[in-house]
Amino acid sequence: MRDFLELLERKGLLEKIGIPLSTDREISSILLSLEDQAFLFRQVKDFQMSVAGNLYCTKANLALGLGLSASATNYDLLTLIGKAVRYPSESIGSVSGFRDSDFDHNEEADLSKLPILKHFDEEAGRYITAGIVVAKSPETGEDNLSVHRMLVLSKNKVVARIVPRHLARIASEMSPKSVPVSVVIGPPPSVFLSAALQIEYGTSEYRVASKLSGGKLNLMKCEHNDLAVPIDSEVVLEGELVWDDLVDEGPFVDLTRTYDDVRKQPTITFRKMHFRNDSTYQVVVGSSREHSIFMGLPQELKILDSLSRAVSKIRGVNLTQGGNGYFHCIVSLDKVNDGDGKTAIMSCFAASHPLKLVIAVDSDIDPFDLNEVEWALATRFQADRGLIVINGARGSSLDPSSSKSAVTSKLGIDATLPMNQDRAKFKRATISTSDLARSIVEEIRSKHKQVLESK
Ligand SMILES: Cc1cc2nc3c(=O)[nH]c(=O)nc-3n(C[C@H](O)[C@H](O)[C@H](O)COP(=O)(O)O)c2cc1C
Repeated sequence: MRDFLELLERKGLLEKIGIPLSTDREISSILLSLEDQAFLFRQVKDFQMSVAGNLYCTKANLALGLGLSASATNYDLLTLIGKAVRYPSESIGSVSGFRDSDFDHNEEADLSKLPILKHFDEEAGRYITAGIVVAKSPETGEDNLSVHRMLVLSKNKVVARIVPRHLARIASEMSPKSVPVSVVIGPPPSVFLSAALQIEYGTSEYRVASKLSGGKLNLMKCEHNDLAVPIDSEVVLEGELVWDDLVDEGPFVDLTRTYDDVRKQPTITFRKMHFRNDSTYQVVVGSSREHSIFMGLPQELKILDSLSRAVSKIRGVNLTQGGNGYFHCIVSLDKVNDGDGKTAIMSCFAASHPLKLVIAVDSDIDPFDLNEVEWALATRFQADRGLIVINGARGSSLDPSSSKSAVTSKLGIDATLPMNQDRAKFKRATISTSDLARSIVEEIRSKHKQVLESK
């Protein structure tokens, strides 16, 4: 992560704060108030380590972290990630043995040395929010990486929220159900992203990370378990996940900025901790822009993949910010057949179970411009022919309005024009104008922008 911090700094994208700030809601309040800005808090009250947050608050930052240019489009980013997911590297990268010298501190785990934040008023306590759990499946022999929030219970014990996916499957393969794990904080961008992606069980996320980093992934074995972790990590914890040791987890503010339910969840007890004198502790504030980017990307990949098979030509897909990058999707498409709008809607719902609303618009509508989308609703949509309501479908436990078992209703809005319509009647009118008129408009626009930015 340190190379990425340096890169953000060189590009002028990292705000460094030298004023001592508290881990108790002071840092999180700044991160959330300015959620489009990456931060490095160099002085943290009562702690040696600095804190970094909002590092991946824009897709441009993420693109930079993956070696693309900041001007890479969403399409470039998704193409790169999609290829790595479909064709991961053969190997997980170079793996060296454990060496004391890679970290300045290799000691008994003591979480009180880490500047773990309390983020929101009513949260249960201090939460590790950017911890990647590395575990190995005894069945496949492959490492699995996933991000899990962890509530600190004592100096070496946490309770982790584990939605039943691959880590739960690994636990079910163990007898008794205790899983050696390493928790990595502050890995290279390719590893953080890969941990958030939903990859087929039995393929190590390291293979995807290795592909994303052009084969330059340097891992090392841990001291006490058989797991590999990136050498370029800020903090590594080694311990054991005990599936049947259930403790209350929550309240915690999740993606929707509402408090998630309190549930009994498994604990992790740490034995060892490795860090450097100048390690930086990474946080991802729940419900922040970067949280929704990481939660949305895996869904976006699935949606695009599904759409590419369902309809002929997609102009763009927007998982909107207002829908937490997770629940609402706007698809813009070139219709070839009547019914393509509704097919696109069904294809999105089938690909991504958290979706609650899908709006289909024609390809002359920019799905990222919500005013244009609403204009399409105003001028092209009729509720008697364009609405789809699906009741009793699988939703997400993150949606507080869904049922206890995360069952939800879904709404599709087809705002595309029927094929036989006279398109001229629905065209947005334009004005052909001179370069002079255009330059006057541009000048006034940039003046307005400067005035707004100076406020
Ligand atoms: C910032 C962040 C926090 C997350 N928190 C959790 C969590 O607390 N529990 C959980 O089960 N998944 C959480 N996730 C989602 C999983 O990490 C993600 O679905 C991952 O792909 C699961 O890995 P798997 O496919 O190997 O099961 C989080 C993701 C991100 C990006």
